[in-house]
Amino acid sequence: MFERRIAVIGTGYVGLTTGACLAALGHTVVCADVDAAKMERLRVGAVDILEPGLADLVSEGIASGRLRFVLDAVSAVRGATEGSGAAEVVFLCLPTPMDPSGRADLFALHSVVRQIRKQLDPGTVLVNKSTAPVGTVASIHTLLGRDDVPVVSNPEFLREGSAVRDFMHPDRIVVGCDTPYGAERVSALYARFGAPTVLTDAASAEMVKYAANCFLAMKLSYVNALAELCEHLGANIGDVTEGIGYDHRIGQAYLKPGPGWGGSCLPKDALAMLRVAESAGCAFDLLRATIATNDRQKERVVDKIRMAVTGSRSGSLAGVRLGLLGLTFKAGTGDLRDSPALGVAALLRRAGAELVGYDPAVAVPPAGATTPALADVRVVDDPVRVAPGARALVLLTEWPEFRALDWASLAGAVSERVVVDTRNLLDVDVLRRAGFTVHSLGRR
Ligand code: UDX
Repeated sequence: MFERRIAVIGTGYVGLTTGACLAALGHTVVCADVDAAKMERLRVGAVDILEPGLADLVSEGIASGRLRFVLDAVSAVRGATEGSGAAEVVFLCLPTPMDPSGRADLFALHSVVRQIRKQLDPGTVLVNKSTAPVGTVASIHTLLGRDDVPVVSNPEFLREGSAVRDFMHPDRIVVGCDTPYGAERVSALYARFGAPTVLTDAASAEMVKYAANCFLAMKLSYVNALAELCEHLGANIGDVTEGIGYDHRIGQAYLKPGPGWGGSCLPKDALAMLRVAESAGCAFDLLRATIATNDRQKERVVDKIRMAVTGSRSGSLAGVRLGLLGLTFKAGTGDLRDSPALGVAALLRRAGAELVGYDPAVAVPPAGATTPALADVRVVDDPVRVAPGARALVLLTEWPEFRALDWASLAGAVSERVVVDTRNLLDVDVLRRAGFTVHSLGRR
């Protein structure tokens, strides 16, 4: 395998994981980010995100001299230190947040391209790994104004909480480029994984990313809608998904009902794809319904809580204290972005409920400090402390540790022994023996 000199611009989930993993594969990597404080911390191996194995890889990369962190993109492209040689491959791993209309904002991506376009040696390969709509590689090519630098789309499919594993054990590699040279340079970086490699044009590669995320979102909205129907018909969603999941065309993965899908990717990618479809004159009603079903899922969970606490779908939650177990968008991450748990909390707060919440990956904000994402919830540092005076305990994130809670002592602390388990995580028999009434999704 050729060891390449690689620059990675942007050190979020995708950039840092990509940089650290490529260094672990033997490449010489320089990562750049405009966040000076973060670069300071990374230079000493301090990783802010909860990602198993990432901090070790970063420390090993620094110790081996194959991984370095600089402040500006130009230094990373030029090779950080005197004589270390310019980058042969440059990865763009920049944020593409939603703009007010729901479209992907490419400002950061285009700014970096402008900064580095004159700094790239002929034959350098520029790779976009940021999630960006179809046509982004074409726009980068235009902005670059150079034919001696191929531009490649190489989307990432890593999940938060298993980013390193997903990078090192990919289901597939997707490489979209209009020149064989560019495609070959990038796919060679992953050759040792032996994963299926989809070599295609840039537009199709860009579409793969959105199509994959929107399909996952659709699968989840389907299972959440199915769970609602199961409740009405007296079927058990767990058995139903097991039954359909044995069909290899469906698969068992991604069939767990919940309070909705969230996180930093699925919601923004689904909306961005819908906006692109609309601009192209495609209705894409299926995607519209997928997003609408997800929004409604949070309301459905609030209705379920209202029913569990007041016995009626229109009962008041004003002044009702509720204990929330889980605040992050899924277990295994500290990420609160677009968390369905916080989406439900916002609706409960609007209904007048008083919320006390615990999450193993969420620190109690310092006194007086406001964390906008947590504005609706009083965060405590121990799961037991959500119980006192609670009319119901609501499980919103599937942290395995919640199964092992001392439910018998929790039963003594709550004012009513009611649990709403929106992840179907808990052992119903254990809770019933402790005197709780359990409400879950998709089962009577
Ligand atoms: C997702 C894609 O999985 C990944 O391939 C892409 O690169 C980035 O976006 P991630 O954001 O980490 O990854 O979240 P994921 O693990 O996919 O979960 C998304 C949401 O769906 C979470 O809110 C999760 O709780 C929910 N979910 C997932 C369910 O409700 N049920 C399931 O069975 C799986």
